[in-house]
Amino acid sequence: MPGLLLGDEAPDFEADTTQGRIRFHDFLGDSWGILFSHPRDFTPVCTTELGRAAKLAPEFSKRNVKMIALSIDSVPDHLAWSKDINAYNGDQPVEKLPFPIIADKNRELAVKLGMLDPDERDKDGMPLTARVVFIFGPDKKLKLSILYPATTGRNFDEILRVVDSLQLTAYKKVATPVDWKCGDSVMVVPTLPDEEAKKLFPKGVFTKDLPSGKKYLRYTPQPE
Ligand code: BEZ
Repeated sequence: MPGLLLGDEAPDFEADTTQGRIRFHDFLGDSWGILFSHPRDFTPVCTTELGRAAKLAPEFSKRNVKMIALSIDSVPDHLAWSKDINAYNGDQPVEKLPFPIIADKNRELAVKLGMLDPDERDKDGMPLTARVVFIFGPDKKLKLSILYPATTGRNFDEILRVVDSLQLTAYKKVATPVDWKCGDSVMVVPTLPDEEAKKLFPKGVFTKDLPSGKKYLRYTPQPE
């Protein structure tokens, strides 16, 4: 099945959305971008996810990440559903969300992007769109992809956490360890020689002793 792999350029598709027709590259501009897909409008898990995404929109904006959702149904359906999503959030039941939703009625985009879930089908037996997260860098290349089945809702706090890691590691020679959160110490990348690491990280590089004697666990405070 076609799909997107890390490092692939985002396809420059055109689509109808709740905020008008878009061309994806123009939509992204010079920003980072997140595209998250949904199986269907007016479904419970999707409603909770889009509600959470709407609440977190200022956090994505602070990080210069443009948000866009995709679901199978039409623009009028998306707009009517948006009222429910706002109501679910305890807000005015208006049609506007802080990001557009792509209408992918014929699943063309979902097929092109490798987003179908073969285990979840609609009443006509057609596979639904899975819960995919694609994060693109300002160079429009795919930096992260997460693929969940239709029956498992995503964790948008985790998505923000990975945005922090992606943006930090894109510009500094560091990697983020298990359960890292913004502000925690980070690891020096294995390819960076010790002498260079000392120069690059003036706050210090701390190595943990290990039975192998190998000095590969090198921490440094999160660089600015
Ligand atoms: C939901 O969003 O609740 C959902 C959609 C498709 C399959 C299962 C759950």
